[in-house]
Amino acid sequence: MMETPKRYMITSALTYANGPLHIGHLAGANLTADIYARTLRNLGKDVLYVGGSDEHGAAITIKALKEGTTPQAIIDKYHKMFDESFRKIGISFDIYHRTSEKIHHETSQGFFRTLYQKGEFLEKESEQYYDEEAKAFLADRYIKGTCPKCGYEAAYGDQCEQCGSTLSPTELINPVSTLTGNQPVLRKTTHWFLPLDKYEPWLKKWINEGILDGEKVHDPKKWKNHVLGQCNSWLDSGLQARAMTRDLDWGVDVPSEVKGAEGKKLYVWLDAPIGYISASKQWAIDNNKDWEPYWKSKDTSLIHFIGKDNIVFHALIFPAILKAEGTYILPKNVPANQFLNLEGNKISTSRNWAIWLHEYLEDLPGKEDVLRYYLTRIMPEQKDSEFTWKGYQDANDNELVNNLGNFINRVLVLTKKYYAGKIPDFDPNLTIISSEGEEVTTFQDSELLMVFDKLQEMVEFIERFEFRAALKAMMEISTIGNQFLQFNAPWKLQKTDPDATAVVMNTAAQIVVALSVAMEPFIPFASAKLRKMLNLPPVAGKGELAKVLDSLSEGQLLIEPGHQLGDVGYLFERIPDELIEAQREKLQATTATEPAISYAPVKPTIQFDDFTKLDIRTATILTAKKMKKAKKLLVLTVDLGFEQRTIVSGIAEFYQPEEIIGRQVLVLCNLAPRKLRGVESQGMILMAENAEGALSFVAPEDGWGNGFSVA
Ligand code: MF3
Ligand code: ZN
Repeated sequence: MMETPKRYMITSALTYANGPLHIGHLAGANLTADIYARTLRNLGKDVLYVGGSDEHGAAITIKALKEGTTPQAIIDKYHKMFDESFRKIGISFDIYHRTSEKIHHETSQGFFRTLYQKGEFLEKESEQYYDEEAKAFLADRYIKGTCPKCGYEAAYGDQCEQCGSTLSPTELINPVSTLTGNQPVLRKTTHWFLPLDKYEPWLKKWINEGILDGEKVHDPKKWKNHVLGQCNSWLDSGLQARAMTRDLDWGVDVPSEVKGAEGKKLYVWLDAPIGYISASKQWAIDNNKDWEPYWKSKDTSLIHFIGKDNIVFHALIFPAILKAEGTYILPKNVPANQFLNLEGNKISTSRNWAIWLHEYLEDLPGKEDVLRYYLTRIMPEQKDSEFTWKGYQDANDNELVNNLGNFINRVLVLTKKYYAGKIPDFDPNLTIISSEGEEVTTFQDSELLMVFDKLQEMVEFIERFEFRAALKAMMEISTIGNQFLQFNAPWKLQKTDPDATAVVMNTAAQIVVALSVAMEPFIPFASAKLRKMLNLPPVAGKGELAKVLDSLSEGQLLIEPGHQLGDVGYLFERIPDELIEAQREKLQATTATEPAISYAPVKPTIQFDDFTKLDIRTATILTAKKMKKAKKLLVLTVDLGFEQRTIVSGIAEFYQPEEIIGRQVLVLCNLAPRKLRGVESQGMILMAENAEGALSFVAPEDGWGNGFSVA
């Protein structure tokens, strides 16, 4: 039989650093893992939870090409954004790492080297699509075409986003290069393949029976049906060897000792999951810890949180890589979530149909927990689910405000009022009424055992990755509390029977404390606020929930009579209709203006001295004529006041020569002269360029005068 794990290694799918985070990322791989990690820490377990940015692969280079910038600029921009957004929404990574780090290049190369030396790879020459204009082989997202399975016309070389099928470029009908739009040709190239077909027998046994090398290592009954289903549909159609190298410029270099692989890079789906290990190594260095037990010890429970499009990589391919390496454990579970839709449509980055996390955080400050709560409540655990702004508002108003917030507020306010904010002492033998409306005589019987049961239920749901049900169990504790208050009506009882009121109010305070711990994984900001009101230290992932469970099971109090509360206020507030309307309008409006403008990232900072090296002067165009045989160029003479110059300018597509004579312009006049089509250009006219590449003069007002400096 399997023993209870000694430690947990928890991962969230590394996010492609090619566009901002949206609510789908949270609902799939991040909020799930965060709730799981926080709960385990509160149970006093040894947890390492890692995440990071996935910075290689075609997703990044294509974005860079589109924006006319470098892959490095793209990953720097998004990595920073992810790190900030995740922090602000309370994802409790022990480390948020990135795959462009040196330690990751070394770690993933180390894996490749080991597999290469063990003779695991198959070296194969094959014909692959090649773009003759871009001089590049076209794998994965560099090639598009019609999906052979469903007929979708914009399927990628690795996957059809319409039907979800995994594809290879040669299966596409009418393939075109996404780099140039050209039809590609076939060319020979060599790659190193992982023989997945060879691993099929053990993968089948491991997935379906949880048996690896004759040992029971996980319980397939605990895996989600849709995850097992996807794995088996792959296994049943027969696994094929998969290339682990690519002909690309951007990525991790194939180790130099691999002959014939010069200039080739590791396949992004080889390097990215190894990123979890690199992150763990970096965490160990930063914290003076040992990373190896988390990845190599059989008493570790390794759990990958992902979205359903990542299943095959985490449940078949990465396990195959780990096993081929030989010293690693395999995941105990891969609790993938399905997709989250938004207001009736699929979330789509290209159509801008999304709620972007950085915008949410800016538009709705202080509402981090509301988003966490609602996303957990509608989490697509077994099937796709849907986010609506109305649902968001209802969940906040009816559940957080009316149930949880109301219960807590009533208890704290009455405690302030009746006992000057001190938890009252009480006689446990007095008769009060339970939340089920029955008369009970002892404090113990009253409510706290029910709370204990609910807490246990909540923990069991979380252990089974049923976050919706766990959240519900947590909220039922609050419902119990509200009913308990309702039946006993301390606001009336206080006038007739202050002794019984003290029992009621003490019990209610115990429930509030239990809630302050139980809510932390779901709504950590509200938990921290509440703990302050309770004048208790914040829940910090140090076994607080285990302590609550122990105390309750032993009939001990969670907060002692005489304990003084802090300042009391509201935990949640109603969300006004206007706010919801504004968000709905924003969603519709951004979609109407597609395609979204992509702005070039800001260039690295320069010093004032760098700027003053540029000599920019006001000038007037005196003559202008077209350059022969050059569509784009005009030859201008400009008056700089102190002298006249000839300047060749690439503006012919936007301005006719006649219309610009006499115009005021700005000229960079200390630029080294250069010859264009035989004419020496002695400076540069400053122009603004918009997203379509159109040019416009930037200039002082007419009549300003020539030769004056820009300061
Ligand atoms: N970047 C991938 C995605 O967003 C996920 C990578 S998960 C990892 O779909 F394991 F490879 F890191
Ligand atoms: Zn398809």
